[in-house]
Amino acid sequence: RILILDFGSQYTQLIARRVREIGVYCEIHAFDMDEQAIRDFAPKAIILSGGPESVTGSDTPRAPEVVFGLQVPVLGICYGMQTMAEQLGGKVSTSNLREFGYARVDIDQAGSLLTGIDDHVAENGSMSLDVWMSHGDKVTELPEGFSRLAYTDSCPLAAMADETRHYYGLQFHPEVTHTKQGGRILERFICGIAGCEKLWTAEGIIEDAVAKVRKQVGNETVLLALSGGVDSSVVAALLHKAIGDQLVCVFVDNGLLRKNEGDQVMAMFANNMGVRVIRVDAQDRFLSRLHGVEDPEKKRKIIGNTFIEVFDEESAKLKGVKFLAQGTIYPDVIESAASKTGKAHVIKSHHNVGGLPEDMTMELVEPLRELFKDEVRKVGLELGLPYSMVYRHPFPGPGLGVRILGEVKREYADILREADAIFIEELRKADLYDKTSQAFTVFLPVKSVGVVGDGRRYEYVIALRAVETIDFMTARWAHLPYEFLEQVSGRIINEISQVSRVTYDISSKPPATIEWE
Ligand code: XMP
Repeated sequence: RILILDFGSQYTQLIARRVREIGVYCEIHAFDMDEQAIRDFAPKAIILSGGPESVTGSDTPRAPEVVFGLQVPVLGICYGMQTMAEQLGGKVSTSNLREFGYARVDIDQAGSLLTGIDDHVAENGSMSLDVWMSHGDKVTELPEGFSRLAYTDSCPLAAMADETRHYYGLQFHPEVTHTKQGGRILERFICGIAGCEKLWTAEGIIEDAVAKVRKQVGNETVLLALSGGVDSSVVAALLHKAIGDQLVCVFVDNGLLRKNEGDQVMAMFANNMGVRVIRVDAQDRFLSRLHGVEDPEKKRKIIGNTFIEVFDEESAKLKGVKFLAQGTIYPDVIESAASKTGKAHVIKSHHNVGGLPEDMTMELVEPLRELFKDEVRKVGLELGLPYSMVYRHPFPGPGLGVRILGEVKREYADILREADAIFIEELRKADLYDKTSQAFTVFLPVKSVGVVGDGRRYEYVIALRAVETIDFMTARWAHLPYEFLEQVSGRIINEISQVSRVTYDISSKPPATIEWE
Protein backbone atom coordinates (compact mmCIF):
# COMPACT_ATOMS: atom_id res chain seq x y z
CA ARG A 1 0.00 0.00 0.00
CA ILE A 2 0.92 3.56 -0.72
CA LEU A 3 0.92 6.49 1.68
CA ILE A 4 0.02 9.91 0.32
CA LEU A 5 1.04 12.80 2.54
CA ASP A 6 -1.19 15.79 1.92
CA PHE A 7 0.28 19.27 1.81
CA GLY A 8 -3.09 20.79 0.99
CA SER A 9 -3.24 20.62 -2.79
CA GLN A 10 -6.64 20.67 -4.42
CA TYR A 11 -5.44 17.65 -6.42
CA THR A 12 -4.55 15.33 -3.52
CA GLN A 13 -7.77 13.33 -3.82
CA LEU A 14 -7.04 12.93 -7.51
CA ILE A 15 -3.66 11.37 -6.74
CA ALA A 16 -5.41 8.83 -4.54
CA ARG A 17 -7.98 8.06 -7.19
CA ARG A 18 -5.34 7.53 -9.85
CA VAL A 19 -3.38 5.19 -7.57
CA ARG A 20 -6.54 3.21 -6.81
CA GLU A 21 -7.44 3.07 -10.50
CA ILE A 22 -4.07 1.54 -11.15
CA GLY A 23 -5.18 -1.18 -8.74
CA VAL A 24 -3.16 -0.35 -5.64
CA TYR A 25 -4.54 0.59 -2.24
CA CYS A 26 -3.53 3.98 -0.84
CA GLU A 27 -4.49 6.36 1.92
CA ILE A 28 -4.25 10.12 2.28
CA HIS A 29 -2.93 11.49 5.56
CA ALA A 30 -1.96 14.98 6.67
CA PHE A 31 1.71 15.90 6.03
CA ASP A 32 2.36 16.05 9.78
CA MET A 33 1.28 12.46 10.36
CA ASP A 34 2.86 10.97 13.43
CA GLU A 35 6.20 9.26 12.74
CA GLN A 36 5.22 6.08 14.50
CA ALA A 37 1.93 6.01 12.61
CA ILE A 38 3.88 6.21 9.37
CA ARG A 39 6.04 3.27 10.44
CA ASP A 40 2.98 1.29 11.46
CA PHE A 41 1.33 2.03 8.14
CA ALA A 42 4.32 0.32 6.52
CA PRO A 43 3.96 1.92 3.10
CA LYS A 44 5.60 0.34 0.07
CA ALA A 45 6.08 3.84 -1.27
CA ILE A 46 5.24 7.40 -0.29
CA ILE A 47 3.86 10.22 -2.41
CA LEU A 48 4.21 13.82 -1.24
CA SER A 49 1.40 15.94 -2.68
CA GLY A 50 1.42 19.49 -3.95
CA GLY A 51 0.35 22.35 -1.73
CA PRO A 52 -0.41 26.05 -1.67
CA GLU A 53 2.48 27.18 0.52
CA SER A 54 6.06 28.13 -0.26
CA VAL A 55 9.01 26.05 0.89
CA THR A 56 10.96 29.31 1.10
CA GLY A 57 8.61 30.69 3.74
CA SER A 58 9.46 30.14 7.37
CA ASP A 59 7.33 27.66 9.24
CA THR A 60 5.84 26.03 6.15
CA PRO A 61 5.11 22.29 6.05
CA ARG A 62 7.85 19.70 5.69
CA ALA A 63 7.70 15.94 5.29
CA PRO A 64 8.41 14.06 8.54
CA GLU A 65 12.05 12.92 8.59
CA VAL A 66 10.97 9.29 8.79
CA VAL A 67 9.80 9.54 5.16
CA PHE A 68 13.47 9.57 4.12
CA GLY A 69 14.46 6.98 6.66
CA LEU A 70 12.22 4.07 5.71
CA GLN A 71 14.15 3.10 2.60
CA VAL A 72 11.06 3.06 0.42
CA PRO A 73 10.59 4.91 -2.88
CA VAL A 74 9.33 8.49 -2.51
CA LEU A 75 7.70 10.61 -5.19
CA GLY A 76 7.32 14.35 -4.60
CA ILE A 77 4.82 16.21 -6.74
CA CYS A 78 5.10 20.02 -7.08
CA TYR A 79 5.35 21.27 -3.46
CA GLY A 80 6.24 17.68 -2.57
CA MET A 81 9.23 17.82 -4.92
CA GLN A 82 10.28 21.19 -3.56
CA THR A 83 10.18 20.14 0.07
CA MET A 84 12.02 16.94 -0.79
CA ALA A 85 14.73 18.94 -2.56
CA GLU A 86 15.02 21.38 0.31
CA GLN A 87 15.04 18.73 3.03
CA LEU A 88 17.72 16.70 1.26
CA GLY A 89 20.07 19.63 0.77
CA GLY A 90 19.02 21.24 -2.51
CA LYS A 91 17.68 24.74 -3.08
CA VAL A 92 14.27 26.14 -3.90
CA SER A 93 13.60 29.71 -4.92
CA THR A 94 10.55 31.82 -5.39
CA SER A 95 10.08 33.40 -8.76
CA ASN A 96 7.64 36.14 -9.58
CA LEU A 97 6.69 34.24 -12.65
CA ARG A 98 3.88 31.84 -11.92
CA GLU A 99 3.45 29.04 -14.36
CA PHE A 100 -0.05 27.69 -14.65
CA GLY A 101 -1.51 25.35 -17.22
CA TYR A 102 -0.20 23.44 -20.17
CA ALA A 103 3.55 23.06 -20.64
CA ARG A 104 5.85 20.89 -22.66
CA VAL A 105 8.76 19.41 -20.77
CA ASP A 106 11.85 18.09 -22.52
CA ILE A 107 13.35 14.90 -21.21
CA ASP A 108 17.11 14.83 -21.08
CA GLN A 109 17.55 11.63 -19.15
CA ALA A 110 14.49 9.42 -18.77
CA GLY A 111 15.80 7.19 -16.00
CA SER A 112 13.69 4.44 -14.47
CA LEU A 113 10.69 6.75 -14.04
CA LEU A 114 10.25 8.04 -17.58
CA THR A 115 11.91 5.53 -19.90
CA GLY A 116 9.54 4.72 -22.75
CA ILE A 117 7.05 7.36 -21.67
CA ASP A 118 6.71 10.37 -23.96
CA ASP A 119 4.28 12.35 -26.10
CA HIS A 120 6.61 13.65 -28.79
CA VAL A 121 9.83 12.37 -30.28
CA ALA A 122 11.80 14.92 -32.31
CA GLU A 123 13.88 14.02 -35.36
CA ASN A 124 17.06 14.01 -33.33
CA GLY A 125 15.46 11.53 -30.98
CA SER A 126 14.82 13.92 -28.10
CA MET A 127 11.59 13.30 -26.27
CA SER A 128 9.07 15.52 -24.53
CA LEU A 129 5.87 15.31 -22.50
CA ASP A 130 2.67 17.39 -22.46
CA VAL A 131 2.02 18.23 -18.84
CA TRP A 132 -0.01 20.40 -16.48
CA MET A 133 2.01 22.79 -14.36
CA SER A 134 0.87 24.99 -11.54
CA HIS A 135 3.59 26.56 -9.45
CA GLY A 136 5.43 29.71 -8.48
CA ASP A 137 8.48 28.28 -6.72
CA LYS A 138 10.95 25.94 -8.31
CA VAL A 139 13.93 23.80 -7.43
CA THR A 140 17.10 25.62 -8.48
CA GLU A 141 19.75 23.30 -7.09
CA LEU A 142 19.56 19.52 -6.89
CA PRO A 143 20.34 17.75 -3.63
CA GLU A 144 23.31 15.42 -3.61
CA GLY A 145 22.72 12.15 -5.38
CA PHE A 146 20.04 13.56 -7.67
CA SER A 147 20.15 14.15 -11.38
CA ARG A 148 17.86 16.04 -13.68
CA LEU A 149 15.32 14.12 -15.75
CA ALA A 150 13.48 16.93 -17.54
CA TYR A 151 13.21 20.71 -17.94
CA THR A 152 11.25 23.52 -19.53
CA ASP A 153 12.45 26.99 -20.48
CA SER A 154 11.04 28.54 -17.35
CA CYS A 155 11.68 25.59 -15.08
CA PRO A 156 15.17 24.17 -15.52
CA LEU A 157 14.51 21.35 -13.05
CA ALA A 158 11.08 19.98 -13.94
CA ALA A 159 11.83 16.41 -12.88
CA MET A 160 14.59 14.88 -10.80
CA ALA A 161 15.65 11.48 -9.54
CA ASP A 162 18.01 9.79 -7.16
CA GLU A 163 18.09 6.31 -8.66
CA THR A 164 20.02 4.82 -5.75
CA ARG A 165 17.59 5.79 -3.04
CA HIS A 166 14.59 5.74 -5.40
CA TYR A 167 13.54 9.31 -4.75
CA TYR A 168 11.75 11.16 -7.52
CA GLY A 169 10.39 14.65 -7.95
CA LEU A 170 8.01 16.06 -10.56
CA GLN A 171 7.29 19.76 -10.80
CA PHE A 172 4.24 19.02 -12.94
CA HIS A 173 1.06 17.18 -11.92
CA PRO A 174 0.85 13.59 -13.16
CA GLU A 175 -2.52 13.11 -11.43
CA VAL A 176 -4.54 15.49 -13.62
CA THR A 177 -5.86 14.25 -16.94
CA HIS A 178 -4.25 17.14 -18.81
CA THR A 179 -0.93 15.40 -18.20
CA LYS A 180 -1.58 12.74 -20.80
CA GLN A 181 1.06 10.27 -19.66
CA GLY A 182 0.40 10.97 -15.98
CA GLY A 183 -1.28 7.63 -15.34
CA ARG A 184 1.64 5.76 -16.89
CA ILE A 185 4.17 7.75 -14.87
CA LEU A 186 2.33 6.98 -11.62
CA GLU A 187 1.98 3.35 -12.60
CA ARG A 188 5.70 3.19 -13.34
CA PHE A 189 6.46 4.58 -9.90
CA ILE A 190 3.99 2.38 -8.03
CA CYS A 191 4.29 -0.91 -9.86
CA GLY A 192 7.62 -0.66 -11.66
CA ILE A 193 9.74 1.08 -9.05
CA ALA A 194 7.94 0.32 -5.77
CA GLY A 195 6.92 -3.16 -6.92
CA CYS A 196 3.29 -2.99 -5.81
CA GLU A 197 0.93 -5.60 -7.18
CA LYS A 198 -2.46 -4.68 -8.60
CA LEU A 199 -4.60 -6.37 -5.99
CA TRP A 200 -7.10 -3.56 -5.43
CA THR A 201 -9.95 -4.85 -7.64
CA ALA A 202 -13.69 -4.98 -6.95
CA GLU A 203 -13.36 -8.67 -6.14
CA GLY A 204 -10.43 -8.04 -3.82
CA ILE A 205 -12.21 -5.17 -2.10
CA ILE A 206 -15.30 -7.31 -1.46
CA GLU A 207 -13.32 -10.23 -0.13
CA ASP A 208 -11.47 -7.91 2.21
CA ALA A 209 -14.62 -6.11 3.39
CA VAL A 210 -16.50 -9.36 3.98
CA ALA A 211 -13.71 -10.69 6.17
CA LYS A 212 -13.47 -7.43 8.12
CA VAL A 213 -17.21 -7.19 8.75
CA ARG A 214 -17.42 -10.81 9.92
CA LYS A 215 -14.58 -10.22 12.31
CA GLN A 216 -16.06 -6.98 13.61
CA VAL A 217 -19.63 -8.14 14.24
CA GLY A 218 -19.30 -11.83 15.06
CA ASN A 219 -22.78 -13.23 15.63
CA GLU A 220 -24.43 -9.92 16.38
CA THR A 221 -27.17 -8.20 14.43
CA VAL A 222 -26.43 -5.15 12.26
CA LEU A 223 -29.01 -2.49 11.50
CA LEU A 224 -28.97 -0.43 8.30
CA ALA A 225 -31.10 2.48 7.14
CA LEU A 226 -31.67 1.55 3.52
CA SER A 227 -32.66 4.47 1.31
CA GLY A 228 -32.32 2.94 -2.12
CA GLY A 229 -29.45 5.34 -2.90
CA VAL A 230 -26.18 4.02 -4.26
CA ASP A 231 -24.18 3.94 -1.03
CA SER A 232 -26.75 2.35 1.26
CA SER A 233 -27.70 -0.15 -1.45
CA VAL A 234 -24.11 -1.27 -1.85
CA VAL A 235 -23.71 -1.52 1.93
CA ALA A 236 -26.84 -3.71 2.06
CA ALA A 237 -25.59 -6.02 -0.67
CA LEU A 238 -22.14 -6.24 0.88
CA LEU A 239 -23.37 -6.93 4.40
CA HIS A 240 -25.87 -9.45 3.14
CA LYS A 241 -23.02 -11.29 1.47
CA ALA A 242 -20.94 -11.08 4.64
CA ILE A 243 -23.47 -11.88 7.35
CA GLY A 244 -26.75 -12.87 5.64
CA ASP A 245 -29.67 -12.73 8.06
CA GLN A 246 -27.71 -10.91 10.74
CA LEU A 247 -28.40 -7.82 8.66
CA VAL A 248 -31.71 -6.04 9.20
CA CYS A 249 -32.57 -3.08 6.98
CA VAL A 250 -35.13 -0.40 7.74
CA PHE A 251 -36.61 1.38 4.76
CA VAL A 252 -38.67 4.43 5.68
CA ASP A 253 -41.34 5.66 3.28
CA ASN A 254 -41.61 9.35 4.13
CA GLY A 255 -44.16 10.13 1.43
CA LEU A 256 -41.53 12.10 -0.45
CA LEU A 257 -40.07 9.30 -2.51
CA ARG A 258 -40.25 8.94 -6.26
CA LYS A 259 -42.91 6.93 -8.01
CA ASN A 260 -42.82 3.21 -7.05
CA GLU A 261 -39.53 3.70 -5.25
CA GLY A 262 -40.57 1.77 -2.16
CA ASP A 263 -41.83 -1.17 -4.20
CA GLN A 264 -38.66 -1.24 -6.23
CA VAL A 265 -36.45 -1.29 -3.17
CA MET A 266 -38.50 -4.11 -1.67
CA ALA A 267 -38.49 -6.06 -4.94
CA MET A 268 -34.75 -5.76 -5.30
CA PHE A 269 -33.57 -6.39 -1.78
CA ALA A 270 -36.31 -8.35 -0.02
CA ASN A 271 -37.70 -10.47 -2.83
CA ASN A 272 -34.78 -10.80 -5.15
CA MET A 273 -31.79 -10.95 -2.84
CA GLY A 274 -33.51 -12.23 0.29
CA VAL A 275 -32.36 -9.37 2.51
CA ARG A 276 -34.41 -8.77 5.69
CA VAL A 277 -36.03 -5.40 5.07
CA ILE A 278 -38.58 -3.74 7.33
CA ARG A 279 -40.63 -1.28 5.36
CA VAL A 280 -42.08 1.48 7.50
CA ASP A 281 -44.92 3.52 6.10
CA ALA A 282 -44.50 6.86 7.85
CA GLN A 283 -46.04 9.02 5.15
CA ASP A 284 -48.74 10.48 7.38
CA ARG A 285 -46.32 11.36 10.12
CA PHE A 286 -43.95 13.22 7.79
CA LEU A 287 -46.70 14.99 5.89
CA SER A 288 -48.56 16.11 8.98
CA ARG A 289 -45.35 17.49 10.51
CA LEU A 290 -44.72 19.43 7.32
CA HIS A 291 -48.22 20.90 7.30
CA GLY A 292 -48.06 24.69 6.97
CA VAL A 293 -44.24 24.83 6.92
CA GLU A 294 -42.81 26.87 4.06
CA ASP A 295 -39.22 27.57 5.01
CA PRO A 296 -36.86 25.17 3.17
CA GLU A 297 -34.38 24.80 6.01
CA LYS A 298 -37.18 24.14 8.48
CA LYS A 299 -38.56 21.52 6.12
CA ARG A 300 -35.15 19.85 5.92
CA LYS A 301 -34.89 19.80 9.72
CA ILE A 302 -38.35 18.35 10.20
CA ILE A 303 -37.73 15.64 7.62
CA GLY A 304 -34.35 14.80 9.16
CA ASN A 305 -35.63 14.71 12.72
CA THR A 306 -38.72 12.72 11.85
CA PHE A 307 -36.54 10.20 10.08
CA ILE A 308 -34.37 9.75 13.14
CA GLU A 309 -37.45 9.38 15.32
CA VAL A 310 -38.94 6.66 13.10
CA PHE A 311 -35.63 4.88 12.78
CA ASP A 312 -35.10 4.96 16.54
CA GLU A 313 -38.54 3.46 17.14
CA GLU A 314 -37.82 0.63 14.74
CA SER A 315 -34.44 -0.13 16.23
CA ALA A 316 -35.95 -0.15 19.73
CA LYS A 317 -38.33 -2.88 18.58
CA LEU A 318 -35.40 -5.05 17.57
CA LYS A 319 -33.90 -5.72 20.96
CA GLY A 320 -30.18 -5.80 21.55
CA VAL A 321 -28.85 -4.52 18.26
CA LYS A 322 -25.21 -3.62 18.81
CA PHE A 323 -24.16 -2.46 15.36
CA LEU A 324 -25.31 0.24 13.03
CA ALA A 325 -24.16 0.21 9.40
CA GLN A 326 -23.57 3.41 7.46
CA GLY A 327 -22.67 4.20 3.88
CA THR A 328 -19.86 6.62 4.73
CA ILE A 329 -17.42 6.81 1.82
CA TYR A 330 -13.80 7.96 1.63
CA PRO A 331 -14.42 11.54 0.49
CA ASP A 332 -16.64 12.02 3.61
CA VAL A 333 -13.81 10.75 5.77
CA ILE A 334 -11.26 13.04 4.15
CA GLU A 335 -13.61 16.00 4.37
CA SER A 336 -14.39 15.57 8.02
CA ALA A 337 -10.72 15.03 8.84
CA ALA A 338 -9.85 18.18 6.90
CA SER A 339 -12.54 20.19 8.62
CA LYS A 340 -11.26 19.07 12.02
CA THR A 341 -7.66 19.99 11.32
CA GLY A 342 -8.65 23.08 9.37
CA LYS A 343 -6.57 22.01 6.41
CA ALA A 344 -7.59 22.81 2.83
CA HIS A 345 -10.56 21.17 1.13
CA VAL A 346 -14.00 22.55 0.57
CA ILE A 347 -16.55 21.30 2.99
CA LYS A 348 -19.86 20.24 1.58
CA SER A 349 -22.69 21.66 3.53
CA HIS A 350 -25.18 18.92 2.81
CA HIS A 351 -25.72 15.96 5.02
CA ASN A 352 -27.90 13.07 4.27
CA VAL A 353 -31.04 12.58 6.25
CA GLY A 354 -29.35 9.37 7.34
CA GLY A 355 -27.24 11.44 9.74
CA LEU A 356 -27.97 9.80 13.06
CA PRO A 357 -27.90 11.16 16.57
CA GLU A 358 -24.57 11.29 18.31
CA ASP A 359 -25.78 9.71 21.51
CA MET A 360 -26.48 6.39 19.77
CA THR A 361 -24.88 3.57 21.67
CA MET A 362 -24.45 1.32 18.68
CA GLU A 363 -21.03 0.70 17.20
CA LEU A 364 -20.63 1.75 13.57
CA VAL A 365 -20.02 -0.62 10.68
CA GLU A 366 -18.77 1.34 7.68
CA PRO A 367 -17.62 -1.02 4.98
CA LEU A 368 -17.27 1.70 2.30
CA ARG A 369 -15.16 4.01 4.44
CA GLU A 370 -12.09 3.51 2.32
CA LEU A 371 -13.75 3.73 -1.08
CA PHE A 372 -14.24 6.46 -3.63
CA LYS A 373 -17.62 6.70 -5.34
CA ASP A 374 -16.42 5.02 -8.53
CA GLU A 375 -15.10 2.13 -6.46
CA VAL A 376 -18.42 1.86 -4.60
CA ARG A 377 -20.13 1.56 -7.98
CA LYS A 378 -17.76 -1.14 -9.20
CA VAL A 379 -18.30 -3.08 -5.99
CA GLY A 380 -22.08 -2.72 -6.41
CA LEU A 381 -21.98 -4.14 -9.93
CA GLU A 382 -19.71 -6.96 -8.82
CA LEU A 383 -22.22 -7.80 -6.08
CA GLY A 384 -24.93 -8.10 -8.71
CA LEU A 385 -26.81 -4.84 -8.25
CA PRO A 386 -28.34 -3.57 -11.50
CA TYR A 387 -26.54 -0.90 -13.49
CA SER A 388 -29.52 1.44 -13.25
CA MET A 389 -29.32 1.39 -9.46
CA VAL A 390 -25.57 1.72 -9.21
CA TYR A 391 -25.41 4.59 -11.68
CA ARG A 392 -28.54 6.44 -10.69
CA HIS A 393 -28.54 10.20 -10.18
CA PRO A 394 -28.19 11.47 -6.64
CA PHE A 395 -31.45 12.01 -4.81
CA PRO A 396 -31.43 14.37 -1.82
CA GLY A 397 -32.26 13.03 1.63
CA PRO A 398 -35.34 15.27 1.99
CA GLY A 399 -36.52 13.90 -1.35
CA LEU A 400 -39.41 15.60 -3.05
CA GLY A 401 -39.74 17.72 0.09
CA VAL A 402 -37.29 20.26 -1.35
CA ARG A 403 -38.67 19.95 -4.86
CA ILE A 404 -42.12 21.15 -3.87
CA LEU A 405 -41.64 24.86 -3.36
CA GLY A 406 -43.07 26.09 -0.09
CA GLU A 407 -45.60 24.01 1.80
CA VAL A 408 -45.56 20.29 1.13
CA LYS A 409 -48.91 18.61 0.52
CA ARG A 410 -49.71 15.05 -0.46
CA GLU A 411 -51.57 16.31 -3.52
CA TYR A 412 -48.49 18.18 -4.69
CA ALA A 413 -46.21 15.22 -4.04
CA ASP A 414 -48.51 12.97 -6.08
CA ILE A 415 -48.44 15.35 -9.05
CA LEU A 416 -44.68 15.79 -8.83
CA ARG A 417 -44.11 12.02 -8.64
CA GLU A 418 -45.97 11.54 -11.91
CA ALA A 419 -44.14 14.37 -13.67
CA ASP A 420 -40.77 13.13 -12.39
CA ALA A 421 -41.49 9.59 -13.59
CA ILE A 422 -42.32 10.85 -17.09
CA PHE A 423 -39.17 12.98 -17.28
CA ILE A 424 -36.89 10.18 -16.12
CA GLU A 425 -38.57 7.60 -18.34
CA GLU A 426 -38.10 9.83 -21.39
CA LEU A 427 -34.49 10.57 -20.47
CA ARG A 428 -33.77 6.86 -20.34
CA LYS A 429 -35.64 6.22 -23.59
CA ALA A 430 -33.68 8.93 -25.39
CA ASP A 431 -30.41 7.65 -23.96
CA LEU A 432 -29.88 10.95 -22.17
CA TYR A 433 -30.04 9.77 -18.55
CA ASP A 434 -26.38 8.84 -18.30
CA LYS A 435 -25.39 11.99 -20.17
CA THR A 436 -26.85 14.22 -17.46
CA SER A 437 -25.52 14.22 -13.91
CA GLN A 438 -28.83 14.95 -12.24
CA ALA A 439 -32.31 15.52 -13.65
CA PHE A 440 -35.63 16.03 -11.93
CA THR A 441 -38.85 18.01 -11.89
CA VAL A 442 -39.90 20.75 -9.50
CA PHE A 443 -43.44 21.55 -8.41
CA LEU A 444 -44.41 25.23 -8.48
CA PRO A 445 -47.52 25.96 -6.44
CA VAL A 446 -48.80 28.66 -8.74
CA LYS A 447 -51.61 28.39 -11.22
CA SER A 448 -51.22 29.32 -14.82
CA VAL A 449 -53.77 29.39 -17.58
CA GLY A 450 -54.23 26.77 -20.27
CA VAL A 451 -56.92 25.84 -22.77
CA VAL A 452 -58.56 22.47 -23.10
CA GLY A 453 -61.08 22.28 -25.92
CA ASP A 454 -63.13 25.43 -25.61
CA GLY A 455 -62.49 25.99 -21.94
CA ARG A 456 -59.80 27.78 -20.02
CA ARG A 457 -58.29 26.00 -17.06
CA TYR A 458 -55.95 27.20 -14.36
CA GLU A 459 -53.46 24.58 -13.27
CA TYR A 460 -50.02 24.13 -11.72
CA VAL A 461 -46.57 24.63 -13.26
CA ILE A 462 -43.82 22.02 -13.44
CA ALA A 463 -40.20 22.99 -14.01
CA LEU A 464 -37.73 20.57 -15.55
CA ARG A 465 -34.17 20.68 -14.22
CA ALA A 466 -31.19 18.85 -15.72
CA VAL A 467 -27.53 19.60 -15.11
CA GLU A 468 -24.09 18.44 -16.07
CA THR A 469 -21.47 18.50 -13.37
CA ILE A 470 -18.47 16.63 -12.08
CA ASP A 471 -18.54 17.47 -8.40
CA PHE A 472 -21.99 19.10 -7.85
CA MET A 473 -20.26 22.20 -6.54
CA THR A 474 -20.62 23.90 -9.89
CA ALA A 475 -22.96 22.83 -12.67
CA ARG A 476 -24.07 23.78 -16.15
CA TRP A 477 -27.66 23.36 -17.25
CA ALA A 478 -27.90 20.47 -19.67
CA HIS A 479 -28.47 21.50 -23.27
CA LEU A 480 -31.16 18.90 -23.92
CA PRO A 481 -32.52 18.76 -27.47
CA TYR A 482 -35.64 20.87 -28.14
CA GLU A 483 -37.50 17.89 -29.63
CA PHE A 484 -36.86 15.97 -26.46
CA LEU A 485 -38.10 18.80 -24.23
CA GLU A 486 -41.18 19.09 -26.42
CA GLN A 487 -41.91 15.40 -26.00
CA VAL A 488 -41.56 15.58 -22.20
CA SER A 489 -43.64 18.73 -21.88
CA GLY A 490 -46.35 17.27 -24.12
CA ARG A 491 -46.58 14.11 -22.05
CA ILE A 492 -46.64 15.90 -18.70
CA ILE A 493 -49.41 18.33 -19.71
CA ASN A 494 -51.49 15.68 -21.44
CA GLU A 495 -51.12 12.95 -18.84
CA ILE A 496 -51.35 15.03 -15.66
CA SER A 497 -54.56 17.04 -15.67
CA GLN A 498 -53.44 19.26 -12.77
CA VAL A 499 -50.56 20.67 -14.80
CA SER A 500 -51.04 23.28 -17.52
CA ARG A 501 -47.51 24.47 -18.13
CA VAL A 502 -43.94 23.12 -18.20
CA THR A 503 -40.78 25.23 -18.14
CA TYR A 504 -37.11 24.36 -18.51
CA ASP A 505 -34.62 25.72 -16.01
CA ILE A 506 -31.64 27.35 -17.77
CA SER A 507 -29.75 28.52 -14.68
CA SER A 508 -26.25 27.35 -13.94
CA LYS A 509 -24.62 26.93 -10.57
CA PRO A 510 -23.41 29.35 -9.40
CA PRO A 511 -25.27 31.62 -8.97
CA ALA A 512 -28.29 29.28 -8.90
CA THR A 513 -28.14 25.96 -7.05
CA ILE A 514 -29.08 22.60 -8.50
CA GLU A 515 -32.14 22.13 -6.31
CA TRP A 516 -34.72 24.89 -6.22
CA GLU A 517 -34.79 25.12 -2.44
P1 XMP B 1 -27.44 22.26 -4.57
O1 XMP B 1 -28.90 22.46 -4.66
O2 XMP B 1 -26.86 22.75 -3.29
O3 XMP B 1 -27.22 20.69 -4.61
O4 XMP B 1 -26.72 22.82 -5.76
C1 XMP B 1 -25.99 20.02 -4.75
C2 XMP B 1 -26.24 18.53 -4.60
O5 XMP B 1 -26.67 18.24 -3.27
C3 XMP B 1 -27.96 17.65 -3.28
N1 XMP B 1 -28.72 18.19 -2.13
C4 XMP B 1 -28.99 17.53 -1.01
N2 XMP B 1 -28.69 16.26 -0.63
N3 XMP B 1 -29.79 16.62 1.43
C5 XMP B 1 -29.11 15.82 0.58
O6 XMP B 1 -28.87 14.66 0.93
C6 XMP B 1 -30.13 17.90 1.14
O7 XMP B 1 -30.76 18.60 1.92
C7 XMP B 1 -29.70 18.37 -0.16
N4 XMP B 1 -29.83 19.55 -0.81
C8 XMP B 1 -29.24 19.42 -2.01
C9 XMP B 1 -28.57 18.02 -4.61
O8 XMP B 1 -29.56 17.08 -5.01
C10 XMP B 1 -27.35 18.02 -5.51
O9 XMP B 1 -27.02 16.71 -5.91
